[in-house]
Amino acid sequence: MRFVQTSIAIALLASSAASAQPDFANGDLTGTVSSSVVPAPWFLWQKTPDTCDPFGPFNNTPTPWTLSPNGGTFVRTGGDSGVNSEALAQNLTGFTPGQLYTIEFSQTNLGFEHPSTGDWLGMDGFYDVLVDGVVVGSSSVLSKPAINTDAISWSAASVSFSAPAADLEIAFRVESALGTGLAAYMGIDGVRMRPVPAPAGAVLLGVVGLVAMRRHR
Ligand SMILES: *[C@@H]1O[C@H](CO)[C@@H](O)[C@H](O)[C@H]1NC(C)=O
Repeated sequence: MRFVQTSIAIALLASSAASAQPDFANGDLTGTVSSSVVPAPWFLWQKTPDTCDPFGPFNNTPTPWTLSPNGGTFVRTGGDSGVNSEALAQNLTGFTPGQLYTIEFSQTNLGFEHPSTGDWLGMDGFYDVLVDGVVVGSSSVLSKPAINTDAISWSAASVSFSAPAADLEIAFRVESALGTGLAAYMGIDGVRMRPVPAPAGAVLLGVVGLVAMRRHR
């Protein structure tokens, strides 16, 4: 029994030692309201995303933008196909290659009121998640509010991927559901990374259990 208890203690120690996990710095995208700037340490990956509060920049509607569940500022991105779309990114270290991770974030479709004509523009849109420049998944498609005076609404998105290396560049790029042509205007906020719990722990516990049964006989 002593051997079994020692094994369990070692297993617990090993799992707590491995608990330092990669996550985004400033995942809440808190920064200074500005066009063509994203909050540090995020960087512009493609074109010029903006840091916004309820009033913009680029909120030409009479309705202030509702904030995401984590509040503060958020990032606005516009674009049609991937090559023409605004994207932000962050470089992270400390991944375990081959391990599955899930990225969770809040997304919204802002629409776009033309500043001079007042036309209510913007397509259905979604976010691609790119790891080292490769799309590993996309969020679900969201439509803009029906009319410019409707409040925007935020929803939860998640994308899982297997880490190809220990150090990764992770980018979020808006796309229009139409593809090339007319742009979608989306907001992103509250970006988090967590490892997908591996079944290895359960297997280890199973082995410990077998050893315990054998010793008991
Ligand atoms: C992020 O990582 C990529 C890929 O290694 C590199 O090209 C880029 O310069 C890095 N950017 C920053 C801001 O560190």
